[in-house]
Parts: sequence; structure tokens; C-alpha cells
Amino acid sequence: MSKKFYITTPLYYLSGTAHIGHAYTTLAADVIARYQKGKGRQVHFLTGSDEHGANIEKVSAQVGKTPAQWTDELADSWQKLWASLEVQHSDFIRTTEPRHEKPVQRVFEILLEKGDIYKGSYEGWYCTPCENYLDPAELVNGKCPLHDCKAEQAREETYFFRLSKYQQALLDHYEKNPEFLSPKSRSREIINFVKSGLQDTSISRSKVSWGIPIPGDPKKTIYVWFDALLNYATAVGLAEKLGLPEGGALSRGRKFDEFWPADIHLVGKEIYRFHAVLWPAMLMALGLPLPKKVFAHGWWTVNGEKMSKTRGNVVNPEDYAREYGVDALRYFVFREVPFGNDGDFSDAAFAQRYNSELANSLGNLLSRTLNMVDKYIGGKLPGDDYKGGELYAALAAHGPAIDAHMEALELDKALDRIWCAVAEMNQAIDRNKPWVMAKENPAGLEPFLLELSAGLRLVSGWLEPFMPETAGKMRAQLTAPRKTGEKMAPLFPRKEAAKPAK
Ligand code: ME8
Ligand code: MG
Repeated sequence: MSKKFYITTPLYYLSGTAHIGHAYTTLAADVIARYQKGKGRQVHFLTGSDEHGANIEKVSAQVGKTPAQWTDELADSWQKLWASLEVQHSDFIRTTEPRHEKPVQRVFEILLEKGDIYKGSYEGWYCTPCENYLDPAELVNGKCPLHDCKAEQAREETYFFRLSKYQQALLDHYEKNPEFLSPKSRSREIINFVKSGLQDTSISRSKVSWGIPIPGDPKKTIYVWFDALLNYATAVGLAEKLGLPEGGALSRGRKFDEFWPADIHLVGKEIYRFHAVLWPAMLMALGLPLPKKVFAHGWWTVNGEKMSKTRGNVVNPEDYAREYGVDALRYFVFREVPFGNDGDFSDAAFAQRYNSELANSLGNLLSRTLNMVDKYIGGKLPGDDYKGGELYAALAAHGPAIDAHMEALELDKALDRIWCAVAEMNQAIDRNKPWVMAKENPAGLEPFLLELSAGLRLVSGWLEPFMPETAGKMRAQLTAPRKTGEKMAPLFPRKEAAKPAK
């Protein structure tokens, strides 16, 4: 069996409902997974939930629930959201499942025996929302810069992971594998951080009870990041790989080597260090190969401001899906921002792209083409043996560039290129004026309209990863025998620029 294309998202904290930032990463993984499937590869797409830690404990207590009740409900609602956004993940792992917890405990034992985990004591500044000790140099007026809350001085007996041992091996790996740290613009910061010297890192907590107990020291729990990162391996058969007694069942019959190493871990920039430094060092300690690529995208702001509950500006992806359609949302986020960069979400930008690029450029192109096909050539569409002429060849020539952008995770550039093809078809119609051809050059009309239909079929194929429903509708209308005179619903009905109803 050949190795699958394996792509992951972060495991989101179940401390609340999903917003546009979470949806962005998951949709990106879905776009990439669908693209690879379309190229005939076997794809495994993993997402899930990070359910341990003090924060989840606190949030559930606030609503009078146990962490288990709370996470059950939330895990359910997150999965429903993914389904409603047309996300086709292969698996959803929860860090509270035995298939995860058991191999995590085994990893702890293995690394303890090996000496890569050892016992010591730790004193420092702790930020609870980060679930982490912060470097005093990172604090701003004694506060965590990310969460703007006061860090607390804490001291505890703890287990350390011997991260310092892997400093040089990590640097060597970055150097030999220039694709590992992606996009390239983010590599410098990681390399400098590792070069500046890696400290061994605390991976147990004595204050947090909602976590995976440490084998042989059950009053302590495993640090939530050490626990959560391992999901990428536990979900695809680590239990079986480590030879756990019930490994086959815990691994759901999955053979680790058919999945591992992951091809792409997609994450947001704020958790890049965990994925680009700690996680690969953990894998080195376990003697496992490293993922091929760790890609960090940027952050969404809303109307120029950081999204936050206190500001009340959190964007709910469902509001936009309801108002404009799921595909419009999937389109907007990838067209608006170069993948990897920060971006700003605004209703005005959304409505503008929806009306001009989806309703006008694409939607009108399809409807006017099919109207002319009906009116002038009796609904005739290109057959399977269609070869095309000059226009079709020019459109098809975008294919290799679109593929190259998709492989390079330049999702915005792939869309730009698809819209070049759309613009070229619209320009060809304006230039050739089929309504004039009908009178002056009727013989030229059929080949021209066949080229447009065939070109639109190409577009529907290119769009499938981004806009699966739209691609399906286009394909159906461009393939099925046409009943002339039948009125079709527009792909994207025009909208007034207004805030979507909540
Ligand atoms: O960090 N813009 O979970 P989390 C873009 N449990 N992406 C955003 C975003 C924004 N404004 N806000 C969130 C955790 N994201 C850990 C991960 S992995 C083993 C453990 C996305 O719920 C982005 O992918 O805080 C970011 O990295 C992730 O959500 C953080 O989700
Ligand atoms: Mg976060």
C-alpha cells in the first residue's frame, strides 16, 4: 500500500464556538485535501479538538458543567459546523479519547526510560490561557502579551523534556529540508529562536487535574501541548506502532507507516513554534521521521481590529454561509489574502467580491453563455472528443500554472489565475459579439460557443477544491443535455451590501 497524502489542522481548544479564524485553517486543509484527491492521491485529512487543560476546566465550571459534559457538547457542535461548511475530513480526533491518551502515556514512559524526560523543579511566570510558562523577557508590564492577563509566579516539581539536546539536529534538519519551515518568510524567526539556545521544557503540571495522568505519578498531568501535539501520530496508528497491547483496536486498524510522516501540518502563526520546534524534537526523541512541511498562515483581524469576545467583533462563519452561501465564504477567505499573510475581514470587502467576482464575472459568464448556447445552437454542448480551438487552448494553458500554485499552497494565486481565465472568456464575448456573429458570421458561432462551454468546464474543475457545490452545478449545466428555454437559477444572486443577519 502506498503512503497516503496526510494533512492536519490544529486541534482547536473547545473553550467556545468556532469563529472565522478556526474555519480558515480547516477550510484551507479541505481545499488542499480536495485538490490532492482530484489529482488521484489517497488523502487522509485530520482535524479534531484539544480538550485538556486548566482553561477548559475553568470554562466548563463557569457554566456549571463537568469538563466531560462540556467537551462532548462542543465537540459535537464543531463537527456539525465542519459538515455544514462542506469540509470532508477523514477523521476527527479528541484528545480525551483512549486512542489518544493511552499512546501519549506510553510515549511519556518511553522517553522517561530513554532519559529524554527527567524530573526536576521549575520556577517561573505562568500564563493560564497559554497553559505555559513565559520567558520574563516576553512579559509586557508583567502581563502575557498575547492574552493581556497577568502572569503568575509559580514553582513546582516537574518533568522536563530534554529539548536542548535537539538544538543542533533541528538546525540541521531546517537546513537540509528547506520546505519544512513554510512559508519561507516564517523560517528566519524559528531558526533564530533555535540558534539563540533551547532550554529543556516543563511538560507536567501539578495544578491541572483535567489532563492525562502521568504514568507512575498520577497526581500530575501531562502538559497540554505535549499531549495535544501527539494527536497527529496517535490518530494514525501510533498505538500499534509502539506495540501497545490493544494497539490494533486503538489504532482503528490503521498502519502508522501508511500515513506517517504527515505531508502538511497547517497552523496559525501563533502556534508555529510548538509545531516547528517542540514537535519535531519530540519526534526525534521517539526516532520517528519528521513531517514534510509545517505551514503557518497569518491572522485575521476584523475591520482592522483583533477579534475578541470582549470587543464583540467575533465573525461567525455560519452567518456568512447563510447569507451568501458556503462557497462564497470559501472563496472570499482564500481570494482576499495571500495564503500565509495576515488579513482583514470586512463586510464591505466580502460584498464587493461577491457581487463583482462571483455574481458578475463568473455567474453572468455562465448564464449568458448557456443562454446563447440555447438561443443560437439549440443547446449543443461540446462532446467527449472535443479538441477546441485557439481560445480553448489559451484557457487550458492556465492549468499547469494553477497546479503549480496549488502544490505550492499559493491558494490566492491559484484563484487569481482561474479568474484570469474567466476574464478572458468575458473579453472574448465582448470582442466577438455573438449576437452580431449570428447575423454576419453564423458559421463561426457554433465553434465559439463550444469553446466557451468547454472553457467553463475547465473552470468548474479548477474551482472544485474551493467551491465544491458551485463546481457541481456548473458541471451539471455544462454536461447534461440542455432543455432549451428552461430558466436556470443564477449561481450567485446579487446582494445589496449589508451586514448579514445574525
Ligand atoms: O492553539 N486568524 O487551539 P486554538 C487566523 N489547541 N487563524 C486563527 C485565528 C485568527 N484570528 N484565530 C484562530 C490551539 N485561528 C491549540 C492547538 S495543535 C496540536 C493544538 C486558528 O483553539 C489558527 O489555525 O487556540 C490557530 O493556530 C488556531 O485557530 C488556534 O486554535
Ligand atoms: Mg489560541
